Amino acid sequence: MEAERGRKTLYSAAQPSGNLTIGNYVGAIRNWVRLQEGNDCFYAIANMHSITVRQEPAELRRRTLEAAALYIACGVDPEKCTLYVQSQVPQHAELTWVLNSLTYVGEMSRMTQFKDKSQKHADNINMGLMDYPVLMAADILLYQVDGVPVGLDQKQHVEIARDIAIRFNNRYGETFRVPEPLILKTGAKIMSLQEPTKKMSKSDENLNASIFFADDKDTIIRKFKRAVTDSGNDIRYSEEKAGVSNLLTIYSVFRDCTVEEAEKEFAGKGYGEFKLAVGETVADKLAPVQAEQKKLLADKAYLAGVLASGAERAFKAARKTLSKVYRKIGFYQGE
Ligand code: TYM
Repeated sequence: MEAERGRKTLYSAAQPSGNLTIGNYVGAIRNWVRLQEGNDCFYAIANMHSITVRQEPAELRRRTLEAAALYIACGVDPEKCTLYVQSQVPQHAELTWVLNSLTYVGEMSRMTQFKDKSQKHADNINMGLMDYPVLMAADILLYQVDGVPVGLDQKQHVEIARDIAIRFNNRYGETFRVPEPLILKTGAKIMSLQEPTKKMSKSDENLNASIFFADDKDTIIRKFKRAVTDSGNDIRYSEEKAGVSNLLTIYSVFRDCTVEEAEKEFAGKGYGEFKLAVGETVADKLAPVQAEQKKLLADKAYLAGVLASGAERAFKAARKTLSKVYRKIGFYQGE
């Protein structure tokens, strides 16, 4: 069958290593929803990445399902894309092993996230933590994708996936499609509410720094009220006003307006009123998503069905690439 014109294959994933935040939504998931129209998308729950830092097994299992339900509640449609759990498709681990032999220890030890996580988990700098970008490259390259919709913090990892693909293709002949990172202009990096020069993260120890999908309205409003801003009083987007700019970005995404429109709306108003409006807008937008997620989680059979059929589709696509890879590198595959 001839491919529909303009139709692309895309891949992305999020880790279930904590409750997802509005940063995940603004920087990535909302783009996944948009891109599933007219493209062939693979969206995974990257539980294999999660175990590179210590996880409580029962919690990891629960969060995996919660993440699946949340993707769907946010608008990821399992009828339109392939939604699955990474560990249910064994080719991810298998391709990682092959790519490991084309990846240098030096380049992995220079990755920003590896350096950050090594500092944060100094008692657990394991091989998986260092190999993390290679597993991510395997995720992407297995599906011969054109693009990878991610937030800014994952750009370096997509770039290393490109480097590995090019390296493999040069050594063994054309095998992998070389993917592009797809990064939104607005909201590619939502900042911490407590330290607005740092990324909002699901693993931040300061719970006031992040808005989680699981937060209730009062909590959301309280966190926004406490958000760190500067000592000025004008609500304007600018580099030296990291806190206010971050809130304007969040507001504009959840209100579906531009940052300029948000600035106009709050011109002459105080920070207190502004923060309250941001909190209310976000809470009101999250409420139906939370309700939908809860409904989905109550129907475990439905979720299991979605994930099983997603894994089956992903398996078929991944098997094709892996078999090609094994042939190219000289792995015996029977007669
Ligand atoms: P993870 O789970 O940290 O984040 C999932 C997605 O959310 C984006 N994101 C943000 N965007 C804007 N502002 C923020 N504060 C923010 N925090 C997170 C991330 O950029 C990401 O797009 N290694 C990946 C998961 C992964 C993956 C892949 C992604 C595994 N395999 C293959 C793409 C392709 C990760 O830990 O994302």
